[in-house]
Amino acid sequence: MITTHRIYHGDATQMAAIGDGSIDLVVTSPPYPMIAMWDQVFAVGDPRIGHVLAVGDGSTAFALMHGCLDAVWAETFRVLRPGGIACINIGDATRTMQGDFRLYPNHARVLSALMAVGFTPLPDILWRKQTNSPTKFMGSGVLPAGAYVTLEHEYILIVRKGPKRVFVSPEDRRRRRESSFFWEERNHWFSDVWMDVKGTTQNLADREARQRSAAYPLEIPYRLISMFSVKGDVVLDPFLGTGTTSIAALTAARNSIGYELDEALCRIGEASILASAPQARACVEGRVRAHLDFVSNRTSAGKQFRHRNRHYGFAVVAESESDLVLDLPSSVSRAGPGLIEVSYAEDLGGVSDGQTSPHEAEKPATGQQTFL
Ligand SMILES: C[S@@+](CC[C@H](N)C(=O)[O-])C[C@H]1O[C@@H](n2cnc3c(N)ncnc32)[C@H](O)[C@@H]1O
Repeated sequence: MITTHRIYHGDATQMAAIGDGSIDLVVTSPPYPMIAMWDQVFAVGDPRIGHVLAVGDGSTAFALMHGCLDAVWAETFRVLRPGGIACINIGDATRTMQGDFRLYPNHARVLSALMAVGFTPLPDILWRKQTNSPTKFMGSGVLPAGAYVTLEHEYILIVRKGPKRVFVSPEDRRRRRESSFFWEERNHWFSDVWMDVKGTTQNLADREARQRSAAYPLEIPYRLISMFSVKGDVVLDPFLGTGTTSIAALTAARNSIGYELDEALCRIGEASILASAPQARACVEGRVRAHLDFVSNRTSAGKQFRHRNRHYGFAVVAESESDLVLDLPSSVSRAGPGLIEVSYAEDLGGVSDGQTSPHEAEKPATGQQTFL
């Protein structure tokens, strides 16, 4: 199996290289309006923004900044296939302008814009980013009534283009079953509050680039891609930054396309994707280890498993997990300017659930893999 990952240096308000209805899933995090680090980016998109910020008119700046993003949501709707889903990570902003402290509710404004271009809203996720910082409490300390609630969460808005996607052909149905996630992952990933996702950095250069682009941790796009697309799909990130969404897509054996306005970030993104094979493999192997721990704990608790995965032989809870196949990225290489190709190994190897099959008939047949 091979997947491809393309980076376009350009403005996502006009994604001319992408055909109508050709994208299966969008996963992204835009620059957040009224967060100071993005003021300059928005001011380039609309020169009026620099002026209204300079005179302290926060409400108009908020409206104009969202006007820049609205054009991207319209493009997102155009390029998505019917039934395709868009997941948008967005945080609200707090800011004091001319002595007036207030909240700028980005998530509400983005959701309104998504509905205005035709998307159907679905239940969303609250990403709780708890901090122990002593400065997290804002306002008048322990004196009422001028203290403010801390801002320790972001949103992942989830919307769909039209009615839900259908899988009709035998090939589509097979890909869907092979893309199944584990039952215990379903219970965790589909909860509406994510409290366990923290940022990770690999090295200094990576950390600087990730701070500059406000990168999200790999776990965020990886879960969303696993939840809302199938293997071989095409995932788009209109605000690619350091390429985290593409790394998540290749880890999950999906193709990807990214748009990024900042040329330096395009280069950083390409380098990050090219260096991502060890991180991608660790992610897939971590899922297998977590599943085997789950099997072991559940077995110790005296619970039975009714099914076995037909490829690896380990126990699973749901029947559709029997067909689950995890592809391990084996090589990531440059196939041309802004184009990366990934190949996959079928052999995961190296792990066992330590169980013999409860039913002889369910033992993996010849040619199937067993984790040893
Ligand atoms: C919040 S960051 C995305 C970070 C990314 N998720 C990551 O993990 O690195 C937003 C990115 O959008 C880019 N950007 C802003 N406006 C854009 C536009 N109109 N078209 C394409 N990219 C844009 C910025 O340069 C920035 O890299």
